[in-house]
Amino acid sequence: MFRFAAFAVSAIIFAAAQVALPAIAGPANVGPEKCEKCHRDETKVWEGTAHAKSFKTIHKHKTGKEILKAVGEKRMKRSEICATCHYTTVEDGGKSKPVAGPSCESCHGKASEWIAIHNDYGGAGVKREQESAEHKAARIQKAKAAGMIRPEMLYDVAANCMSCHGLANENLSGEHASAMLDNGHPLNTNYEIVEYSQGTVRHRFYPPDVTVNKEMTKAEMARFYVIGQAAALVSATEAIKKTQHAKYVEGQNKRIAKAKSVLSKVPEASALLAAPSADAGRALADAIADKDLTAIVGGELPTKFK
Ligand code: HEC
Ligand code: HEC
Ligand code: HEC
Ligand code: HEC
Repeated sequence: MFRFAAFAVSAIIFAAAQVALPAIAGPANVGPEKCEKCHRDETKVWEGTAHAKSFKTIHKHKTGKEILKAVGEKRMKRSEICATCHYTTVEDGGKSKPVAGPSCESCHGKASEWIAIHNDYGGAGVKREQESAEHKAARIQKAKAAGMIRPEMLYDVAANCMSCHGLANENLSGEHASAMLDNGHPLNTNYEIVEYSQGTVRHRFYPPDVTVNKEMTKAEMARFYVIGQAAALVSATEAIKKTQHAKYVEGQNKRIAKAKSVLSKVPEASALLAAPSADAGRALADAIADKDLTAIVGGELPTKFK
């Protein structure tokens, strides 16, 4: 509580608090129930996903025991290694406690530092309909700076999925990733963003009719498909440096080869292909933002979704 108050008061006090509290925590999760009261439709969609359902089942999975043993852990719900990708954890009396499977903040960014900004339309009592355009623009920028991954940041959205899917998370050591693979943990090299985001996961309740969960058009899918391959290329290129473990290297090389085969057909991707990086991925997303790439990749788009 003290730290939260310090953040709110001023940057100067924040700096002082940083000195006083050596182990200052980064952004934290607030948990999906904090989003639910305003986002009922999205919550309902999320509750139907493997992400939400896995909270009750994944720790009972038959290969889990071997995987846990291989990285020196006993219980999945107590393991920080597993929590990186399998759980949403909130701080509770100095301990981190899993409260859900992957949830809102796993994809939109830990919210402790952006939720107040997100809900402030211009001071106490100002309603959303009364917010000025300037305030809204500033609010969006501030929320991003505080770690919110917004829906229109398509490269960042996709890259974030890749941090769990692909066994590529930067916080997972090469040693642990190898031991997990050797003991039955999957590394899904066929993970493709359109196939995985436009089925159970899809929530696109955009205006004008916010009661309808809209499907992507073919042109939107084609762009997201290309952006997903960009994110896979960057993710796998980073991940492959973790370890020389043969199976892991083979898996990441498969992801790289697939991404390159798609991206080599897209002229705007040449800089990214020459030097894969998140910034080059974002630049690609910007460069194709208004383009219809269906003539190039339309034939490869999935017709069934997870
Ligand atoms: C007090 C109500 C409220 C709460 C709590 C809330 N939101 Fe929102 N959120 C909104 C509204 C209203 C919008 C519609 C766009 C706007 O801000 O005008 C929105 C929009 C969004 C968007 C779309 C981007 C945008 O700004 O339009 C995302 C993503 C989002 N919220 C995520 C979350 C997550 C994740 C949580 C929980 C950590 C959360 N919200 C909590 C009210 C809320
Ligand atoms: C880098 C992210 C990541 C980490 C860390 C991680 N997992 Fe997973 N795990 C996944 C993903 C993603 C899947 C789903 C696989 C898929 O379909 O892509 C999965 C699937 C599983 C499955 C289901 C396997 C199956 O055959 O269906 C088990 C069991 C599992 N993980 C156990 C663990 C345990 C135990 C830990 C901790 C030691 C752990 N995982 C750590 C990302 C991770
Ligand atoms: C698996 C990742 C993932 C999870 C979990 C997730 N989102 Fe999203 N969310 C996305 C993506 C991707 C988009 C962009 C959709 C698009 O524009 O195609 C999005 C868009 C949104 C939007 C804007 C579109 C709309 O429906 O109004 C809101 C609001 C939102 N999410 C809120 C939430 C809330 C609240 C939760 C938790 C109940 C949640 N999301 C869980 C990935 C996720
Ligand atoms: C915090 C880690 C994490 C993030 C981020 C994440 N996922 Fe997942 N996802 C998982 C895990 C773990 C599973 C396996 C759950 C299970 O089956 O028990 C999974 C399963 C899924 C499944 C079900 C797969 C199947 O075969 O049924 C889909 C679909 C999916 N994720 C899509 C996405 C998309 C799209 C995004 C990004 C918008 C995303 N995920 C982001 C961890 C994550």
